[in-house]
Amino acid sequence: MQDSLFANVQELPRDPILGLTEAFVADKAPHRVNLGVGVYQDENGKVPLLACVKQAEEALLSKTAPHTYVPIDGLPAYDSAVAQMVFSDSADLAKVATIQALGGTGALKLGAELLRVISPNAKVWISDPSWENHRALFSAAGFAVETYPYYGADGELDFAGLVKTLAAIPAGDIVLLHACCHNPTGLDLSHDQWRQIAKIVRERGLTPFLDTAYMGFAEGLEADAFSVRLFASDGGPLFVSFSFSKSLSLYGERVGALSVLTASAAERARVLSQLKRIARITYSSPPGHGAASAALVLADPALRKQWDDELGGMRERIKKMRKLLAEKLSERLPGRDFSYIVRQNGMFSYSRLTAAQAIALREKYAVYALDSGRICVAALNEKNIDYVSECVAKVMTEV
Ligand SMILES: Cc1ncc(COP(=O)(O)O)c(C=O)c1O
Repeated sequence: MQDSLFANVQELPRDPILGLTEAFVADKAPHRVNLGVGVYQDENGKVPLLACVKQAEEALLSKTAPHTYVPIDGLPAYDSAVAQMVFSDSADLAKVATIQALGGTGALKLGAELLRVISPNAKVWISDPSWENHRALFSAAGFAVETYPYYGADGELDFAGLVKTLAAIPAGDIVLLHACCHNPTGLDLSHDQWRQIAKIVRERGLTPFLDTAYMGFAEGLEADAFSVRLFASDGGPLFVSFSFSKSLSLYGERVGALSVLTASAAERARVLSQLKRIARITYSSPPGHGAASAALVLADPALRKQWDDELGGMRERIKKMRKLLAEKLSERLPGRDFSYIVRQNGMFSYSRLTAAQAIALREKYAVYALDSGRICVAALNEKNIDYVSECVAKVMTEV
């Protein structure tokens, strides 16, 4: 008998976040809380269906259009609406190649594969720490992945370390930056710091890649586009991955886009042809429904306004939870400063829980946080915040 084809296939470790969710689901404690997730939840702990999306979907359904193929590079109305929203007038859109992608991850993958064609010998630099898929995705595309300092030993942004490392990166390397709402730390650059980084990146001839998965969750759609528009305003080159998963709560529909700012309309056409080839051999063409809904929300002034309001509601609820958590922890642990929780942006907080404390939180109190101390603030609500802050305060003193 021949050995099975799969006899030597290695079992890979589980995704740490999914593993945590599985453990949470298996936990029978009635008071259990899952702060490990990466999705926005409303006050009732539910992932919302935004009213703007529901209305767009109803309008689409009433048209009963056939389910034909979407063009390889996506729905034209969607691509142009995304480019317009992300860049506004910071770039000449005739020089921007935008392609619909399967969420933000799909956009990063398209960008990574294009960069393999253009800059095969470059290294990719990501923040330390970063969203764990960044390293995996760029490594799988064949790049050596290095890190630049980001999270300091004091729990604040290590800007000096970031600048020092960037200033020594060889020309031609690729620098991946989080456009806003850094995942996992929640620490963002100030406008002035962004200007300094953009200057170094351009002076050294590095290729900036801005991952934009949480636009609208820090200060609003316009304000959060600052970093992208800053890098775009000097003419590029620039890669921008974009995701509507969180901002339109369209996680499962896989709605994202990659935009590449080139130096001319002719370059744009050539770059787009390469991106289309990558899409064609990977998944042929993207799904239609989510992108059509997003395009309608962006094009219809009433739906667009409604989206702004609903996104504002999500953003403000997260900010309220940050404030409450910081207040409740300060009450329980007087003398300690929890203002960092309020200063962080987006769905996540690097809570400054150690791995041992995160484990104790899980095992003793059924509150699930990542071992890195990352918690999803959007999973907090008025019903669980007292319990969570009580348990966090306990492990912070006992462990
Ligand atoms: C920093 C960052 N980039 C990209 C993504 C991917 O987004 P999507 O779910 O749209 O693929 C995420 C999702 O969690 C993220 O946190």
